[in-house]
Amino acid sequence: MTLYQATASAPVNIACIKYWGKRDTKLILPTNSSLSVTLDQDHLRSTTTSRADPSFERDRLWLNGKEEDIKAGGRTATCITEMKRLRKQEVEDKQPNEPKISEYSVHIASFNNFPTAAGLASSASGFAALVSSLAQLYHLPVSPSTLSLIARQGSGSACRSLFGGFVAWEMGSASDGSDSYAVEVAPQAHWPDLHALICVVSDDKKGTSSTSGMQRTVETSPLLQHRIKEVVPKRMKDISKAILDKDFDSFARITMADSNQFHAVALDTEPPIFYMNDVSKSIIALIVEYNRVSVANGGGYKAAYTYDAGPNAVIYAPKENIKEIIQLIVKYFPQHEGLFKDVFGLFGGADLNSQGG
Ligand code: ADP
Ligand code: DP6
Ligand code: CO
Repeated sequence: MTLYQATASAPVNIACIKYWGKRDTKLILPTNSSLSVTLDQDHLRSTTTSRADPSFERDRLWLNGKEEDIKAGGRTATCITEMKRLRKQEVEDKQPNEPKISEYSVHIASFNNFPTAAGLASSASGFAALVSSLAQLYHLPVSPSTLSLIARQGSGSACRSLFGGFVAWEMGSASDGSDSYAVEVAPQAHWPDLHALICVVSDDKKGTSSTSGMQRTVETSPLLQHRIKEVVPKRMKDISKAILDKDFDSFARITMADSNQFHAVALDTEPPIFYMNDVSKSIIALIVEYNRVSVANGGGYKAAYTYDAGPNAVIYAPKENIKEIIQLIVKYFPQHEGLFKDVFGLFGGADLNSQGG
């Protein structure tokens, strides 16, 4: 008997221009385009195994060893249905000798090697890995962009984790979502000097999920309307240029401004949403001061912070600054040293063991 099983991993991505708001909650179509950096697969990733078998009675999913409900018509169900549809359309209908495994139920097991639902983009790596493992199971001859259309319907940010490097999610305008998918802006190799550092301030599950938080923002925040119309379109152009030019000053300025504005629209939501805590804010102050001193001495920006929907900091910086940044954080937050136990060098892998602190 043939075993129909496949395993795939996907890394997280951390946005520089944040996706926050849906114009269509079922199809997951965003109110603005976004742009992210996909982190090194060695560090924060989801690994997902899918199996199809005629003996399975229904589709089932285990996340970190615990079974999760697959709600009928929900996001996981949509991704599985869409992948089965593609299997039938692209493989079974065209090659009648191929086994009709799209008719079997699937069992899916996924593990995250980092905190789930803590603002470190587990939904992004999670749904990207789920779709990738099914694509392998089904031997689908489709592009990452096609898979990104389906991953998007699991979690918006997931569409960007189908690509490495610098990735834009074009919001699109079609009502069926057919033009709302991820595209590569530049591969990681274009700017290997850019590194990312994750500071796990808290691995608690967030109080307000991204899904419900952004919906509340769409319904109540006047500032969001200004953001999506007047601010993001220009930032998308400017940061793409900064990336292509490897212009860290512009990249840093835009990334920090967009993180700030995302947290401002969260605060502008009724009732307000706070994702950052006091430690997060102190890290912002530290990076601001670090850059100020550098600029005052005739240098440029040395680091850029960004925060997703949670308190954990992601710091983008040229490789040569990473060691100094880790030392600064350890120096100024000695009482929180435990909290920074999970400081990773990412995106090319800064060597943490070489740090002094
Ligand atoms: P995060 O900031 O971690 O992305 P979200 O609130 O956006 O948090 O999403 C968390 C949800 O994503 C989880 O509750 C779970 O439903 C889903 N998820 C996380 N990891 C996986 C995974 N590996 N496979 C499938 N779904 C996942
Ligand atoms: C702050 O993609 O997790 O990380 O589409 O509802 O699953 P859903 O939301 P999700 O939202 C991510 C929000 C963000 C910004 C970003 O990644 O662009
Ligand atoms: Co998420």
